[in-house]
Amino acid sequence: MSLMTIQHYLTRAQQQHAGATGELTLILNDIVTSCKRVAQAVNQGALLGTMGDLGSQNVQGEVQKALDVIANTIFLESNQASGLLAGMASEEMDDPYLMPEGVHGRYLLLFDPLDGSSNVNVNISVGSIFSVLRCPEGVVQPQLADFLQPGVQQVCAGYALYGSSTMLVITTGSGVDGFTLDHGTGEFMLTHPQMRIPDDSREFAINMSNQRHWPPAIKRYVDECVQGTSGPRGVDFNMRWVASMVAEVHRILLRGGIFMYPMDNKNAAQGGRLRLLYEANPMAMLVEQAGGLASTGRQRLLELVPHALHQRVSVILGSRHEVERVQDYFSAE
Ligand code: F6P
Repeated sequence: MSLMTIQHYLTRAQQQHAGATGELTLILNDIVTSCKRVAQAVNQGALLGTMGDLGSQNVQGEVQKALDVIANTIFLESNQASGLLAGMASEEMDDPYLMPEGVHGRYLLLFDPLDGSSNVNVNISVGSIFSVLRCPEGVVQPQLADFLQPGVQQVCAGYALYGSSTMLVITTGSGVDGFTLDHGTGEFMLTHPQMRIPDDSREFAINMSNQRHWPPAIKRYVDECVQGTSGPRGVDFNMRWVASMVAEVHRILLRGGIFMYPMDNKNAAQGGRLRLLYEANPMAMLVEQAGGLASTGRQRLLELVPHALHQRVSVILGSRHEVERVQDYFSAE
């Protein structure tokens, strides 16, 4: 089998895009480098002595792992050298990162450098998630408001999954392509071209321990799945919960399913659990580009107009017909 490297893939994509300057290609190359470096750090595990908590908290009040901070530094370092970004924002930093003097790029990069990091010291898959936006025309030093763009305006989105193999999955708006890291050569190779999510599925993912807090629509949907052949759906369902969004979305891209982290009575004060700009939006773009749907339950995720950098949101995404069903249950409430 002859496989294409991600560099060739990006060059081809640039050639097919009339008027492309090559800037986005270079930015994506730097993101690829960041992910390779994070993969190496994650893969070293306990050998690096970085598996523990730092004793500090990020802006969301979550305990930071040493690897969270290492991954954040890797992303900042790898992505500023090109001078093609106007700004960056991360789950791990309260405010947008100021680029060095004299750097005036045309794009903004938002990322969660190590998603699912509570899994890292038990050797379960974690990932990095990223989203690229255009810096508004004429803006030289982007302010917070410049990052608050709805997901439909994303130019590119993707994730790296540090699992049993390291994969990079990206979209630039023409479908979703997946690459596997060849650790021998250090190259990401195109192994999963044009990934598609099946419209139907019998697999759901939700943290069941929150059941008593859920809104009625989610209770009804999960109840019916759990009833299986003896309930209104008439078929048995399977459940998965890795507690690593990247791993759940990856599974859904490969074999379908639905992932739900709804707003519920426990997280309503924060607006939900997952972050809109660097978790939900990039995943929503990937899922839509692969033929699935991504919703809050009541509206299309990608159309939400953000009001804060670290805003949280209700997330229901995956196989089209299952997400539609959940949306119907919300409308019937
Ligand atoms: O920060 C987000 C995250 O780690 C996701 O990757 C994952 O889906 C979720 O949190 C897990 O949440 P919980 O610990 O409530 O199951």
